[in-house]
Amino acid sequence: MSGHGTPIPMISTPCGPLSGVAEVPGDKSISHRSLILGAMAVGETVVTGLLEGEDVLDTAKAMRAFGAEVIRDDDGTWHVHGVGVGGFAEPDQVIDCGNSGTGVRLIMGAAATSPISVTYTGDASLNKRPMARVTDPLALFGCQAVGRSGGRLPMTLVGAAEPVPVRYQVPVPSAQVKSAVLLAGLCAPGQTVVIEKEATRDHTERMLAGFGAEITTEETDEGRVITLTGQPELTPQVIAVPRDPSSAAFPVCAALITPGSDVLVPGIGLNPTRAGLFTTLQEMGADLTYENQREEGGEPVADLRAKYSPDMKGIDVPPARAASMIDEYPVLSVVAANATGVTNMTGVKELRVKESDRIEAMATGLRACGVTVEDGPDWWRVTGQGPGTVSGGATCASHLDHRIAMSFMVLGMSTRQPVRVDDGTPIATSFPIFEPLMAQLGADVRREA
Ligand code: S3P
Repeated sequence: MSGHGTPIPMISTPCGPLSGVAEVPGDKSISHRSLILGAMAVGETVVTGLLEGEDVLDTAKAMRAFGAEVIRDDDGTWHVHGVGVGGFAEPDQVIDCGNSGTGVRLIMGAAATSPISVTYTGDASLNKRPMARVTDPLALFGCQAVGRSGGRLPMTLVGAAEPVPVRYQVPVPSAQVKSAVLLAGLCAPGQTVVIEKEATRDHTERMLAGFGAEITTEETDEGRVITLTGQPELTPQVIAVPRDPSSAAFPVCAALITPGSDVLVPGIGLNPTRAGLFTTLQEMGADLTYENQREEGGEPVADLRAKYSPDMKGIDVPPARAASMIDEYPVLSVVAANATGVTNMTGVKELRVKESDRIEAMATGLRACGVTVEDGPDWWRVTGQGPGTVSGGATCASHLDHRIAMSFMVLGMSTRQPVRVDDGTPIATSFPIFEPLMAQLGADVRREA
């Protein structure tokens, strides 16, 4: 499936128990960063478990355009021969990041402090998303950006020939912005400092340390103060990418709402900056347990076991938890529709600038399926009537957003009538094996064309 071509409608028909082992693909955030940092190291980085979704493949293509060699072995191992910090060549083509905000924002940062001009574009979803949040701090390094009005792609960035280090307080909770500034700081002399009030995913910091950069994080009254010393030589790494908690969310939530289910989702990265959904589900009363907890490649990992949970209750999700589950609110709203009572989600305005306006997309589809949803600029609220009460029977728009498409497919597993989405192609950006994996568990999810 491709997120760039003809739409393919999909249908999810209520199914019997889901059971078995769901081996979800590699973490998308860590996959992007493995390729980008591998391209900025000197020598060969070897990556296993890389997510081979469209978003990450677009980043691989981009790294080749900057001069790195990126090769996939027949056994699925990836080899990145980096050009070193400051070694990026000027691409002779437009960098097309497809659907990926992470891809384009991190790459913009990585290239912003080299004396090269780069033009970026994406698909219809990405070209609507705000880029000033990244180009504003990159301008402080000396990088100039010219794009469409409102700071949208397509956009050309003229990199700083003589970058200066910056001190930047990130105004929105965004790991993409933080990471873009840190990656730009790699080519600047001296210390680049990024301050974030709310902790966002910290894979860039962990990975920069792993590649040998001098980077520290201090918890202060101002927030987390991250200090990077520029112009390091990055040492190539051997990276085993853990499985993606954001993808695990789909089989986990499907099992919780589908009668009789018992699903094991092994090897999931449980970095605390990513695991907010699972805590929330447990607070709702989900039968969700962590088995075989361990550490792999510097990240906490566990096998998740999710069983049908008919007694889940609506809760207030603390806004302070939003950053650690920002991609999981769509599928949480599906669980909330099958719980009893009100689930309040606040402090979530970032959901409105993802691959789609995720509050609007989910609220519209859930309402069409008979669920009560209220929403405002920074909040939404789902009132569930308990297990098996959602009527379904609607076709929901996926708005070029993989997580919206997959959330509605999960919803359809326990509604009274099937649920359709108008276009399932975006699923390939992050979870290319979604359909066979769900089918193997016992779900009835299929393409209609
Ligand atoms: C990501 C950060 C988050 C998240 C995205 C991946 C990353 O975006 O929604 O899917 O890998 O840094 P923001 O940083 O914009 O919140």
